[in-house]
Amino acid sequence: MTTTSTQPDIKVFDYDTYANGDPTTFGLPLDQYQYLRDEEPCYLQELDDPMLIDKTWVVSRNEDIWEVDRNTELYAADRGYVNIWQVVPIDPKNGGMPAMLTTDGERHRAQRQVLAKGFTPGFVRKLDGKFRKYAKDVVDDALEKGTFNFVQTIAHNMPMEALGDVLGVPQEDRSKFFGWVDKFAAPFDTRITASFDEVMEAIGNLMVYSEELAELKRANPADDVMSRLVASGEGGDPLMSPDEIMGNVALLASGAAESTRTAMSHGMHELMRNERAMAWVRERKDNIPSTLIQEMVRIASPFTHLVRTATRDHELHGKQIKEGDIVSMLFAAGNFDERAFEAPHEFRPDRIENPHVSFGRGAHKCLGQHVAALEMKILFEELFQRTSSIEPAGPIEYVRDAYSRGVYSLPVTVTPA
Ligand code: HEM
Repeated sequence: MTTTSTQPDIKVFDYDTYANGDPTTFGLPLDQYQYLRDEEPCYLQELDDPMLIDKTWVVSRNEDIWEVDRNTELYAADRGYVNIWQVVPIDPKNGGMPAMLTTDGERHRAQRQVLAKGFTPGFVRKLDGKFRKYAKDVVDDALEKGTFNFVQTIAHNMPMEALGDVLGVPQEDRSKFFGWVDKFAAPFDTRITASFDEVMEAIGNLMVYSEELAELKRANPADDVMSRLVASGEGGDPLMSPDEIMGNVALLASGAAESTRTAMSHGMHELMRNERAMAWVRERKDNIPSTLIQEMVRIASPFTHLVRTATRDHELHGKQIKEGDIVSMLFAAGNFDERAFEAPHEFRPDRIENPHVSFGRGAHKCLGQHVAALEMKILFEELFQRTSSIEPAGPIEYVRDAYSRGVYSLPVTVTPA
C-alpha cells in the first residue's frame, strides 16, 4: 500500500467502521491507520457519544505504542479509564473495582505477582491434557454438524472452558458464568446484548458470584487463579482486598475468553481466504508452529486499543499533551506498521519477526498469552487432523464494536478426514 495523500475520514473509534469492515483488509480500516501513522502519528480524536470519553490522543506507530505501554511513569494506567468507554467494571475511578490492569507501581507488581503464580509454565503444561479434551469435544460436534457458525461451534467453547479451568470455576457453575462473560463481549451490539443495562446486570451477577467462589476457594484451595487471589500472605493478612478480588475476576472475565475466540475466528477466516497458507498449515497439522498463532493474533488485533493517562505536560510528534490527557495506544494500527513489519498487509503464517502489540509489551503485557497460544495451537491441530477440508459457507460478519474486534458469524463447511 502506498502513502495516502488525501486525508480519509478518520473513524477509527466508530463502532460501524468495524461492524462494516472490509473482509479483504482483515475487517480493519487499514487506509485510516496508514494515514494516521504517516501524517498524524499523534492525533487528537474527539468523540461525540455519551457512552464514550470526550477526546483522546491516538498513537498509531508500533514504536510509539511500545513507548506509551512501557513508560508507566509518563503514561499511567491508574488514573481512570481503560479504553474509550466511560464505564468499565475494572476502572475504580469511575465506579468499578481495582484490577491489576488499572494499577501501577508497587500495587501493580504485588497483584501481578499473586496472579503470575497461577500462570507458571508448569501450570500451563498441565492445561494441555484438558485443552485436548475440549478441542476433541468441539471438533466432534463440528463434524456432526458439517456446516455451522465457526464462532459459536468452535471458537466459543474452548476459551470459555479454558477460562473456567484457569480461574477454577466448578463445572456445574460454568454455564451461568459463561452467560455473564458473553454479555461483556459486545455491549454495543444489540444482536448479542439488548441494552447496556444487560451488561451492568451481568457484571452485578458476576461480582456476587465471585464472592461465592472466593468463599469456596478459601475453604477448599486448589491449583487455580481464584485460590491465589484469596490466599493470605506470610503474616496471615489477605494478599488482596475483596474489591481487588472482584476486579481481577472481572478483568479475566472480560479479557481472556472473547479475545482468544476473536483471534481464532479472524485466523480461520484468513486461512480460508489464502489457499497457500491453508496448505502450509495442513502440512504442519501435527505440530502447529507458534508463528501461525502469533500471526493470527497480529491480524486479529482482538483489542483495537487501550488507553493511559499522561502524568505531566509533554510534547509528542509536535503535539502538546497535557497532564490528565488520555492517550490511546491503537494496537490495531501498530500491528500493520511498515516501520516494524515486512509486508504487514500480508497474512504470513511463517512470519518470524513479528513484533505485534496485540498482547501489549510493557508492565501490563498479557499474563495469559501462553494460555491463549496453547488453546489456539491445540484447537487448530485437532481441527486440521480430523478434517480434509474447511470451506466458507457464507460471508463473515463482525461484531459492532470499536474496542473488542469480535466476529459475529463465520459460516463454514467441514469435510471429515
Ligand atoms: C488472544 C488472546 C488475548 C489477547 C489479545 C489479550 C490481550 C491483552 C492485552 C492487550 C492486555 C493489556 C496489555 C497492556 O496494557 O500492555 C492484557 C492483559 C492481561 N491479560 Fe490478556 N489477552 C488475551 C488472552 C488472555 C487470557 C487467555 C488470559 C487469562 C487466562 C489473559 C489475562 C490477562 C491479564 C491477567 C492481564 C493483565 C496484566 C496486567 O495488568 O499486568 N489474557 N491482555
